[in-house]
Amino acid sequence: MALNYESVDFIKVLGERRSCRFYDPERAVEAEKIQAICQAARNASHMGNANCITVTQVTKQETKDEFTKIVSAFNIPMAKMAPVSLVFALDRDKWYNGLPIGLPILFKQGGVNPSHGWSMDNIENSTLPRLTTFPPEIVSYLLSCETGMAMASAQLMATALGLGSCCYAGQGPKIAEVLGFPDSAQFVWAMAIGYPGESVESMGWRERSPYGDIIYAEKFGTPAIADPAVDAELTALGMMGEPSALTPQRLADINAAATKMGLPTRTDENG
Ligand SMILES: Cc1cc2nc3c(=O)[nH]c(=O)nc-3n(C[C@H](O)[C@H](O)[C@H](O)COP(=O)(O)O)c2cc1C
Repeated sequence: MALNYESVDFIKVLGERRSCRFYDPERAVEAEKIQAICQAARNASHMGNANCITVTQVTKQETKDEFTKIVSAFNIPMAKMAPVSLVFALDRDKWYNGLPIGLPILFKQGGVNPSHGWSMDNIENSTLPRLTTFPPEIVSYLLSCETGMAMASAQLMATALGLGSCCYAGQGPKIAEVLGFPDSAQFVWAMAIGYPGESVESMGWRERSPYGDIIYAEKFGTPAIADPAVDAELTALGMMGEPSALTPQRLADINAAATKMGLPTRTDENG
């Protein structure tokens, strides 16, 4: 077993994470890597430590075949190519039944403390009665954020282990049926995992909104100012870079990967 992440630099991992849409379908993903990715998801932050996020591993061909039919149309090639899909779901029962376990443990372990107003009395007679009577739609809303946190950790672990990944959507109710979800569980998003069929260099840097357009100082809409020296340092560390273009090389890479998979090719930025 070799996870081989001793020399992986976390800041570089942040910079090398991409939504990868071509995979090597012939190269299986090692079981230990899948486990490490799922452990990263499991170790992400959970509200009240109730542990409401589930990951269903889709690896067997027969499950993949069924699953691939019920993902969004433009995700079908990815679902077919990626040797593994992780299906992230939230389970509201784990909120209603897990909070009364998780929150007291958090207190007993010293995670939350009287310094901040926590007590067993407060947990049992105030916090738990309030949180465990939230209606299901509110719980789903809260837990979808928690699922996103788990997915982010999973993606970063996949990157650190030399794997490509991409979140992808599907038909929630049908996915729930095929994978045997209980009524309390709700599909959130799937994640393709596999050895990449396109390189980080080729994928380049994806365009982002300018810093001040989305990062605000004190008041919503007031642009925060990014220090160019910090950005230069982050760039040198491999965390960020200039947005890339659809160069002839990128076009050739896309078409080589698409042709290999028997998928349509493209000619220019318009298609
Ligand atoms: C919650 C979420 C859902 C996404 N769903 C899809 C999807 O259904 N299909 C897809 O091809 N990409 C999907 N993506 C990938 C984004 O489109 C991707 O983040 C975007 O292309 C920016 O590229 P980057 O992730 O490589 O930085 C999703 C990303 C997130 C965070």
